[in-house]
Amino acid sequence: MNLAYAKHLFALGPTVEYGPGVYENIGQVVAGWGCKKALLVTDPNIVKAGISGRVVTALSAHGVSVEIFDRVVTEPTDLFVVEGVSRLKDMGADLVIGLGGGSAMDCAKCIAVMAENPGHITQYEGAVAEFPNDKQVRLITLPTTSGSGAEIAGWAVITDSARSYKMSLGSPYLEPDYVFVDPLLTLDLPRNPTAYSGMDALSQAIEGMLSRRRTPISIALGMYAVRLISENLPKAVIRGWDLEARSNMSVGALLAGIVINTSGCISVHSLAETMGGLYHKPHGLLVGLCLPHVLEFLLPGDHKLLAEIAVALGGNISGCTMYEAAKQAIVEVNRLLDELEFPSLIDVGLREEDIPQISQLAVGNVCSADNPCEMRLEDYALILNNALEEARPQA
Ligand SMILES: [Fe+2]
Repeated sequence: MNLAYAKHLFALGPTVEYGPGVYENIGQVVAGWGCKKALLVTDPNIVKAGISGRVVTALSAHGVSVEIFDRVVTEPTDLFVVEGVSRLKDMGADLVIGLGGGSAMDCAKCIAVMAENPGHITQYEGAVAEFPNDKQVRLITLPTTSGSGAEIAGWAVITDSARSYKMSLGSPYLEPDYVFVDPLLTLDLPRNPTAYSGMDALSQAIEGMLSRRRTPISIALGMYAVRLISENLPKAVIRGWDLEARSNMSVGALLAGIVINTSGCISVHSLAETMGGLYHKPHGLLVGLCLPHVLEFLLPGDHKLLAEIAVALGGNISGCTMYEAAKQAIVEVNRLLDELEFPSLIDVGLREEDIPQISQLAVGNVCSADNPCEMRLEDYALILNNALEEARPQA
């Protein structure tokens, strides 16, 4: 596909403030809107770490009262959304804040939107969720991880508790009004969540660039995201207090979030989301483990693009043919996974007898629509069977 002849859409979304210390400006921004009561959606670990307290202090200084809704103990379900809407209405909140990882921010988005919409969140599943009404409360997100890109995305993933199924929904109404990306809020993130969320961000940047809906702008942002993440993720994992590494990871993950908001994810996420429902392992862990296997499958595709991704990952392609250069992308992802001590898909539970079910669900996953080539059930099965043969694909 020659992108020079294609038509593209790039929607500029919410205002984003980023950099160390920007979260302290939240009170001023909110006071400027005239908001008085905030529902702060988060998880108990964020409260325990004192992070929510710092945000509450910044809001209180500008006369904004805050109720903390810290029910997001796991990946959010429709029941959390129902409870959050009820809390929002009881307190008469005019602002919802999502503080945490993707789970807390997605839950906050859904609470803000469902406060104005009929029925149940589960009836709005799909890439174009047909909410009749836009939210009437303001919505702010503050990530405490560098990974999901949920801070910027008009997407949410919510588990339908009746079906035990993770559903995705997309709508411009889910986009926040304002985003604070502050690396100071990520300094306490432990080693494994840092590694897993970082690999999620890396894969999202790569997937968005390979997507059928890739654009020149998403490729430009994605390449820089890959560069920032591959250079800084090992440092952030080993030295969590390294503000420079954390800051670069925050920007890399934000850029990756913009990339997928524009171009979507592909089969890496189809597989990881499906396996997440089956094996209950962290999303970023599964994404990282699926990434090199999917790249191996896509290797016959756009060699030039994969070669550019290899360079952004830190690969040396001098003297390589274009095909060899493209393969370096897999080498570099494997190197990163080994450096971060990721296990194999077998170690996290992949079994031969599960492959038909995983393949079936992955084909139907919303991300599969953006694969750069058609991927059938047997293609997903091939990728998974290869993963049973070798932990990391040989490039
Ligand atoms: Fe993801």
